[in-house]
Amino acid sequence: MQNLKATSLAHPNIAFIKYWGIKDHELTLPVNGSISMNLAGLETKTTVEFIDDQQKDELQLNGKEISGAGLDRVTKILDFVRLAAKIKLAAKVVSENNFPTGSGIASSASGFAALAMAASTAAGLSLETAALSSIARLSSGSASRSIPGGFVEWFQGEDHSSSYSKSIAPQDHWKLADCIAIVNQEHKPIGSMAGHRIATSSPLQSARIQDTDRRLDICRQAILKKDFTALAEIMEIDSNIMHGVMISSSPSLFYWDPPTLEIMRSVTDWRKDGLAVAYTIDAGPNVHVICNQDNMEPVSDRLKTIPGVNQVLTAIPGGPAKIID
Ligand code: DP6
Repeated sequence: MQNLKATSLAHPNIAFIKYWGIKDHELTLPVNGSISMNLAGLETKTTVEFIDDQQKDELQLNGKEISGAGLDRVTKILDFVRLAAKIKLAAKVVSENNFPTGSGIASSASGFAALAMAASTAAGLSLETAALSSIARLSSGSASRSIPGGFVEWFQGEDHSSSYSKSIAPQDHWKLADCIAIVNQEHKPIGSMAGHRIATSSPLQSARIQDTDRRLDICRQAILKKDFTALAEIMEIDSNIMHGVMISSSPSLFYWDPPTLEIMRSVTDWRKDGLAVAYTIDAGPNVHVICNQDNMEPVSDRLKTIPGVNQVLTAIPGGPAKIID
């Protein structure tokens, strides 16, 4: 019998135009499109093996056996792949991140992108990037954006195959960097899955959605033209709008800590002084500070002087998810 095993590697990504809110929870169809950049250096490596005499799917994550909701999200992708490949075997999944859990970097994007890639290859399927990104999306929306390389747009779509991600520009298109200021490593009290569910409780969410195509256009053009000023402005506005929705949801989701605000203020001041920097914040207190690669060290050094910043991680644009074995 043929060896049904494959190992893949994928990077997390940082969204410049955010995804917040889901219109179909079964398929993870988002209420708006989004744009992101993959983060090289940070990666998840995942091996999937479909095994003959195994009864149930098994997941080992960073050396620990996982059951419950984490395993269910893995099985959802494996079930889709088994159906497409017409196989019935259970799988053993072994996944490792090279960045610490709780470092403020969501491992679900790289994790489910690596899983979709390894599982479909192990099952003998040969799929296009779009189809793979749709499969990754089933268990984590942002994972859809970690399948293509470089700068990526996720089209919201109306069904499984029309909601997929595509590269806008490859990773070497623009020498940007992400300096991630870690201010708090604790797990957030309300994760993004619960947050997506209550997004509609904010009266601001419909205005955010209505204006998203405009922001997507500006961001896409800024990336294509390598226009930092335009990217900085739209990226910060988009992050602020999403946090406006979060803060005004019921219950209110207030993810910022005092150092978060200190960093936001500093970044805008540095930009006024002529340094090309911009911030964006996900569902947590840590701040992603985007700059040119030439400024990666000085920006990291400045961030480290802000009280409350424990650590600064750096990343440059990353490539697509790939099979490594
Ligand atoms: C705020 O549902 O993709 O980062 O729960 O980690 O799978 P996981 O996240 P996901 O939501 C991410 C939301 C966001 C914005 C974004 O990345 O677009």
